[in-house]
Parts: sequence; C-alpha cells; structure tokens
Amino acid sequence: MPFTPDNELDLLFPAALISDQVKSQLHNDVHIRPLASTDHRRGHLAVLSVLTVATDLGEAAWVAQFNAMRAAPQTYYSLVIVDKASDRIVGAGALFVERKFLRGLGSVGHIEDIAVDKQQQGKKLGIRIIDALTYISESAGCYKTILNCSDANIPFYIKCGYEKKENEMAKYAPVKSAQSPRL
Ligand code: ACO
Repeated sequence: MPFTPDNELDLLFPAALISDQVKSQLHNDVHIRPLASTDHRRGHLAVLSVLTVATDLGEAAWVAQFNAMRAAPQTYYSLVIVDKASDRIVGAGALFVERKFLRGLGSVGHIEDIAVDKQQQGKKLGIRIIDALTYISESAGCYKTILNCSDANIPFYIKCGYEKKENEMAKYAPVKSAQSPRL
C-alpha cells in the first residue's frame, strides 16, 4: 500500500500538535502523525499486541472506539509512527488529558499504551513517541505528565527524562470466565 499523507486522512486530533523537533529527529523512512480512522487496516492492533492483549473485534468496532474518543475533544491523543514504504504502523502511543479541580483547575497528562514493533525496537522510535506525547501534554497546559511501567522499562523512561515517583495500585474487576489476562 502506498504511503497516505496526513491531508488524505481523517485524524483523531490536529497534526499541528505533533512537535516539529520530534519530526525532524525521525528518519525519512518513517512518519509520525495522529491516529487516523483507517488505521485498523494499517496494523494498529498488531503493534499494540507487543504490549498486551489487543483482541481484534473488527474494523467497525475499532472505528466506533475512534469516534467515541474524538467526541471528547482535547482529551484523547493517540499517535502512530508509520513506515512509509509499506504504510504500516510500526509504533504507537497515547496521551489522556485529565481535567482537575485542584491546582487552579489544572490538568494532568497520562501516557498510556506505548508500543514499538519488535523489528523496529532500539531505533529511537520509542523515545520519539514519548517526546511527542510529552510535548502535546505540556502544550495543553498539563502541570505534569505521568505513566506506569514495569521495572524493566524504568531505564527507558529515565532516558526519556522521566523520574520514578510513588507507587502504582490496581484492583481488577472480577472475571466471570476465561477473559483477558490481567496485564
Ligand atoms: N532497558 C534499558 N534501556 C532501554 C530499554 C530497556 N528496557 N528500552 C530502551 N532503552 C534505551 C535505549 O537503549 C535507548 O538508549 P540510548 O538513547 O542511550 O541509545 C533509549 O532507551 C531509547 O530507546 P528507543 O530505541 O527509543 O526504544 P524503543 O524504540 O525500543 O522503544 C519500548 C522502547 C517502547 C519500551 C519498546 O521496546 C516496546 O515497545 N516494548 C514492548 C512494549 C512495552 O513494554 N511498552 C511500554 C509499556 S509502559 C507504557 O505503555 C506507559
């Protein structure tokens, strides 16, 4: 499939929110942009599956989720890195902007679901994704940007300029039968 430029896509958020500096640091064979409504066809779930279970419920269900996210403006910022030669997604990440009453009605950016295709890991795509999401978070006025990760990924996030703070707590909902693993 030939590379599809941003102006031919239906994007989740304005492409202008992607940092020019991050764009200039990427190799010419890849492109960073907001998630597009047709990205189910470009392997979005396959890339996310390096992170955890990414069950494919079909393109229509995926598009319904995309539309639900876009219906909450200035909240969901999912982005992707596309391999230009194949027009396939090789990296993905998301930022969720949470509005608060404290900190003078401040906002916090939550980074989620960072994944780089196994063949492309170690080529600085991950750090570019984090830089791009942090830039969006700070441009949106978030007073901090936070994320959860495994011990194994701490060195990666330190390279991205993050520091370890506090602890993560979780309580999973009861599972009736064999559903998704608890990751
Ligand atoms: N341990 C130590 N250093 C690391 C690690 C690691 N696990 N991963 C990356 N680094 C270092 C790299 O060596 C590089 O260092 P350098 O700048 O000195 O050369 C720097 O961090 C940047 O690495 P990238 O090449 O940008 O990393 P990559 O593109 O491989 O992406 C990622 C890292 C996202 C963790 C990728 O390996 C991946 O998709 N892993 C599987 C899924 C996953 O664990 N995702 C993160 C979950 S946490 C969350 O989503 C909030």
